[in-house]
Amino acid sequence: MSKKYTFVANWKMLLDFNESISYVTENFDQLIKLSRLSNNISIVLCPSFPVLYPLIKIFESTKIQFGGQNCSAHNKGAFTGQVSAQTLHDIGCRYCIIGHSEIRNYNHETHETDEFIAKKFDLLIDQNIAPIVCIGESLSDKNDNKTLITLTTQLKKILDLAKLEEHKFNGLPVFIAYEPEWCIGTGVMPDLDYLDSILTWICTETAKSAPHVNWQVLYGGSVSPENIYKFAEIDNLSGFLIGKSSTQFQEFEKIIKRMYY
Ligand code: PGA
Repeated sequence: MSKKYTFVANWKMLLDFNESISYVTENFDQLIKLSRLSNNISIVLCPSFPVLYPLIKIFESTKIQFGGQNCSAHNKGAFTGQVSAQTLHDIGCRYCIIGHSEIRNYNHETHETDEFIAKKFDLLIDQNIAPIVCIGESLSDKNDNKTLITLTTQLKKILDLAKLEEHKFNGLPVFIAYEPEWCIGTGVMPDLDYLDSILTWICTETAKSAPHVNWQVLYGGSVSPENIYKFAEIDNLSGFLIGKSSTQFQEFEKIIKRMYY
């Protein structure tokens, strides 16, 4: 039997409003077909904020799901430019990426610290939105053999919270997306043994902290139609967070199909 995978398309700011609308209108039928290839396929599109609502409406009553690329660490209030978990919930988002390295590293003004990421995590759970928590080491961490130290720090507050609030989840999937920074947008993919050992470590740590949470581990970083086959060999993998390759429908389609044929 084929394995169950979630394919999360992180469009970042690579597609503008008109390009996003064209993407889905030109490929609507194929996207629906793709989502029905197998009951084991989940497709989650994460466009930029203004595009979310129109796309959610277009795909209403289909298997295609939507996610935010971020959310505020605050519940409500005077936070110009931010979008709350409540708003994401109200428009029909069922997923949300938090802690992406492009936000951790570039948006110092929004304080994407582990503490803020944990607050976002908490607010998303309250809204029954599946968090997609990104973690990943830098190249220098890797070269200094500090990968697990970095990942432990990035996960700590999330795991503490999950442990404390285990009763709140009710089967809601919680995704940990392992995205080594040196693989994002670089065309580089980690060695499979290295990847396997990290994913196994994440599965062990999450299950140990909050065994009743429905943890799912994703991989992200230069996933493409050319390298997707290789990931089929990895056991502890529930799906992919795909940036650039997801912004061209034919590439995205090939990635998904190649996992199922
Ligand atoms: P990439 O991005 O697939 O373009 O490397 C992945 C991500 O940043 O989520």
